[in-house]
Amino acid sequence: MELDKQDIKKTVFSGVQPSGVLHLGNYLGALSQWVEMQNQYNCIFCVVDYHAITVKQEPKELSRRILDVVKIYLASGINPEQAVIFQQSDITAHTELSWILNCASARLADLNKMTQFKEKGAKKESVSVGLYDYPVLMAADILLYNTDIVPVGDDQVQHVELTRTLAERFNRDYGQVFKIPEASVRKQGARIMGLDDPSKKMSKSASSPANYIALTDSPEMAAKKIKRAVTDSGSEIKFDLKKKPAISNLLVIFSLLSGINISELETNYKNKGYGDLKNDLAEEVSKFLREFQIKYNSFTDEEVKRILKDGADKIRPVANETLRRVKEKLGIN
Ligand code: AMP
Ligand code: TRP
Repeated sequence: MELDKQDIKKTVFSGVQPSGVLHLGNYLGALSQWVEMQNQYNCIFCVVDYHAITVKQEPKELSRRILDVVKIYLASGINPEQAVIFQQSDITAHTELSWILNCASARLADLNKMTQFKEKGAKKESVSVGLYDYPVLMAADILLYNTDIVPVGDDQVQHVELTRTLAERFNRDYGQVFKIPEASVRKQGARIMGLDDPSKKMSKSASSPANYIALTDSPEMAAKKIKRAVTDSGSEIKFDLKKKPAISNLLVIFSLLSGINISELETNYKNKGYGDLKNDLAEEVSKFLREFQIKYNSFTDEEVKRILKDGADKIRPVANETLRRVKEKLGIN
């Protein structure tokens, strides 16, 4: 019997929150991986709006950002004919499974280990319960679709590990339901560092916009940020994370955008200075953004809403079937 191709394809699931600007770190660490995977795998990409509301959002802005994140997916090269794109809150199974996992699998001791919560929570006076519980909702997202692979930047690896733990515990205690997923991180690019401080990751919650290049920054602004980026002592252009963290970060960004590998870049810049590297990288980044933004601006809100609706309608039965099996195991079906 011939196997249907769909049956043997692995499933990929990932998501981005519609909160704050998306930056080059998101693109190089996560989105560009998704694009590469869509030809080979069953891909599902979510806009995780329930994750975004773990911190206060301005409602009008949030509605806007949900559509903008989809435009970023599309401009990155995600093809809605190949991959499913949907909005988390359109499928109620996510919050339902999240509650069930809260009760049946997740322990305080698990969540207390999550470093992202420690970082995010520490900065705030009042912290929502949702922010603490956020990794359990992420586990529900992943487990509903029998996911094999979760392409993310390295800050999310701990959450995928937790997902595995929750799934294994449920399977052990109630019977086999969940597939155990694995994180996929880039060898290079899993952690793009801030342009103003190469010891911290590029982040939308950075205190200064000099830290990141937003995918919506004007090419001129982005070029300026590259030229003003912090560098290391010395003058040699060499990939060395310990001694030259800033130059190494610029080389990684350059390499991923241009497709030229790092050792080749080192050779090209052998007798040149930091200024030359920055000028050329500024040019490369501007070119990338110019092309990206033409695509970004070519999609209408109406198109995006249609894509989200079609995506949710297509994928909802899979989520509901997993939820049904979970409830059956618990005796609440
Ligand atoms: P977030 O913006 O936190 O919702 O992250 C969306 C995706 O981008 C996740 O897969 C993150 O791991 C990834 N990501 C965020 N910041 C970076 C970074 N500085 N370098 C690489 N990947 C990142
Ligand atoms: N927590 C992820 C982040 O902040 C976003 C996310 C939510 C996610 N659910 C997911 C990523 C499922 C991968 C798979 O970046």
